[in-house]
Amino acid sequence: MSRDEILDRLRSEYMGRSLYYYEETDSTNARIRELAGEGAPTGTLAVADMQTAGRGRRGREWSSPPGMNIYMSLLLRPDIDPSDAPMITVIMALAVCEAVTEMTGGKKVPDGTNVLRGMNAGDDMLQARIKWPNDIVVNGRKVCGILTEMNMDDGRIGDVTVGVGINVNQGERELFPEEIRDTATSLKLECGHTIDRSELIASVMERFETEYERFLSAGDLGFMKERYEQLLVSLDREVRVLDPQGEYTGISRGIDAGGELLVETPDGELHRVYAGEVSVRGLYGYV
Ligand code: BTN
Repeated sequence: MSRDEILDRLRSEYMGRSLYYYEETDSTNARIRELAGEGAPTGTLAVADMQTAGRGRRGREWSSPPGMNIYMSLLLRPDIDPSDAPMITVIMALAVCEAVTEMTGGKKVPDGTNVLRGMNAGDDMLQARIKWPNDIVVNGRKVCGILTEMNMDDGRIGDVTVGVGINVNQGERELFPEEIRDTATSLKLECGHTIDRSELIASVMERFETEYERFLSAGDLGFMKERYEQLLVSLDREVRVLDPQGEYTGISRGIDAGGELLVETPDGELHRVYAGEVSVRGLYGYV
């Protein structure tokens, strides 16, 4: 992977075209924060081969060894209401999930979990799914996390940094830190072959650009609701909503046009769960 190789593969109009590549940096989200301050344009992308202080959500560390994964952050300057910003994470999750599925086709998954609901995904396609709102999972294990950070300016959005970490060509489970060894995986471990990281970045940029533009003109995510729900790992399954106001259990029923998760409680009531405010867990295992 190199700056030239990524530029060579890009098909997007502006996402990723202003490209900063680092062999090593502390965190690509920090690089984008800095570039934003210097007036970098929307679509500016920072990619690193290795991070020395990769950050995950909830103050966690994001394991970022060199030579195998994708660590990238995208700068956006959307003219939208700050309360609509979580939809950007939802769009990125869809873009990554579809790009990953496209690039990992080729290996039959033993238990059939790769078959898409209502679609003929084919027997030999590895199916990535979305754990709303920030994670992509393959065969029940996490391959990607998204960390979206917003910078406010006078009550409006100044800029948004969308950080994406994808475990790509890690060939040994033992390389994962012990605490995530059971819940994390890489694309290579799941599909059996090496993935071209630059091509995957290009595919994510192309898909994200298309969906982001649709979102900006539509104002919500109604246009992608159906596709998203087909990929939603929790759909029609029991989830536990860790709401600080009181935890509850219900059945995940998809998302609404605002990107919120819909959870039906036993009394038949449909709750809207807002990303960023609460976390949602599957009742069985990580998803
Ligand atoms: C999570 O699941 O906790 C989110 C992980 C986000 C990791 C990415 S890697 C690129 C960018 N830079 C960071 O320091 N974090 C994000």
